[in-house]
This record gives sequence, C-alpha cells and structure tokens, in this order.
Amino acid sequence: MTQKNSWNASLYDEKMNFVSQYGSGVIEWLQPVAGEHILDLGCGTGDLTAKIAAAGASVVGVDFSPEMIAAAKKKYQSLSFFVADGHTFRSERRFDAVFSNAALHWMKRPQEVIESVWLALSPGGRFVAEFGGKENCQQVVDALGTVLAQRGIAADERNPWYFPSIGEYTSLLERQGFRVTLASHFDRPTKMPDGDQGLRHWLDSFADSFFAGLHPEERQRVCEEVAVCLRPALYKDGEWIVDYKRIRIIAQKPH
Ligand code: BEZ
Repeated sequence: MTQKNSWNASLYDEKMNFVSQYGSGVIEWLQPVAGEHILDLGCGTGDLTAKIAAAGASVVGVDFSPEMIAAAKKKYQSLSFFVADGHTFRSERRFDAVFSNAALHWMKRPQEVIESVWLALSPGGRFVAEFGGKENCQQVVDALGTVLAQRGIAADERNPWYFPSIGEYTSLLERQGFRVTLASHFDRPTKMPDGDQGLRHWLDSFADSFFAGLHPEERQRVCEEVAVCLRPALYKDGEWIVDYKRIRIIAQKPH
C-alpha cells in the first residue's frame, strides 16, 4: 500500500480480506524456506507476513500506511513491522527474498521501487510479486472517469495506481539487472463481499483519492452514478464482480 489513499484498516480487514486470501497463491510461488530472511513489501495488516513466518522464515513487514502497520502490530505481536516507503526503502540487512502482494500498484515510480528491491536482496535472492496489471479494474476506472468528468473533474489526474503491461514491467526489471524467470498477466474476476454494498466498499477502500474535496453527499451521488454505469457489466446474481487483471512475477538477482 502507499500514497494518496486514506486507509481504514478495519474496513480493509472486514470487507477487503479477499486481497490476502488471493495472495496465498503468491506464497506458493515464493516457497519460503525455514531460516530464510524475507521482506514483505506493502504488507498491509500483516496476514501474509504471518503466513510466511508460519513457514519458519524470519520476516519483516513494511508498509507506507501507519494505520496498516498499527493494525498489523496489534494482530501479530511477535512479528516485526514498520512504516516505510517502497520507493526509498533501504536496509542494512540483506534478504533472501522480497515478497509483495497487491501493493506495487500503489507505487507510481516503479524504477525506484525496483532499485529498492534490488538493494534489499542478497546476491542470488528472489523477488516474487503480484499486483494489478494493465487494464486492471478498467471498467471501474472508466466509470469513475465518466462520472467525475460530468462534474469537471479530470479523474486521470487523481488516479493513484500503476498498472503496467507485462512487457513494460519485465523490461524495467531487466534494466535493473534482474533475470525474470516467470511472468504472467491474467484475468481474475473478483467477487466483492456484501452483495449490493460490495462496490461501495471497494470504492471506499481503494478509490479515496478520486473523491478528494467532494462533500460526503456529493461523494454518495458519484458512487451511485458509478454503480449505475457498472451494474450491467459487473453486477450478477446479487454480487459485484470486479474486472481484476493481475501480474505475477519471479525475478532473480544474479550471484
Ligand atoms: C487491490 O488491491 O485489490 C486493488 C487496489 C487498487 C486498485 C485495484 C485493486
């Protein structure tokens, strides 16, 4: 997680816990081994950090949001968490792996983040990550654009997300010196919890920056209009299914 979103850790844990549930698949790509030192970059409220620790690895979770880190520390008191920005993260310790789930799309200067990861890894270390890929949640982004444009607001200028193509991202990794050994860009239609309320929870959790300066009643109207735009495509049998597209990568730092 990072810039420009106002994080509500309880809403995130109660309504957006699918984020860490889906992230379990990324841990299968990570394959943590007992005794390894692993950095969880953008750890949110720490659920996947705890899963990595359960494999016997020594893990440190960092996140840009103090609210998320406070919640993680409260939930997992024996683990190590601190606030840090992925763009500028530096550590004396070198890690065997850097792991990241659903966080890199909040960091809009990817080259700086990739450099942070590179410097954090030991020679031979691996970077295993999943985040939003090109056209992730595109229908929602388009609907926000349409509804805000009707109020004279340019949604593009408020968009906090980086959703690259697989070609763009793997090229950045290679430019840093990584060897990309696996990469995938896949559709992952994602069901929201809470029936009709599901889209609203998503907007409140993730799309805060689009509503900057709007009166709460105006925000409510914008959300309703966005829902009207999206309902024919994304609302089926009483549930919102958002058009997620993810990137997963494994990249190795050479010895
Ligand atoms: C997510 O973490 O699920 C997410 C966040 C922002 C935009 C899209 C998806």
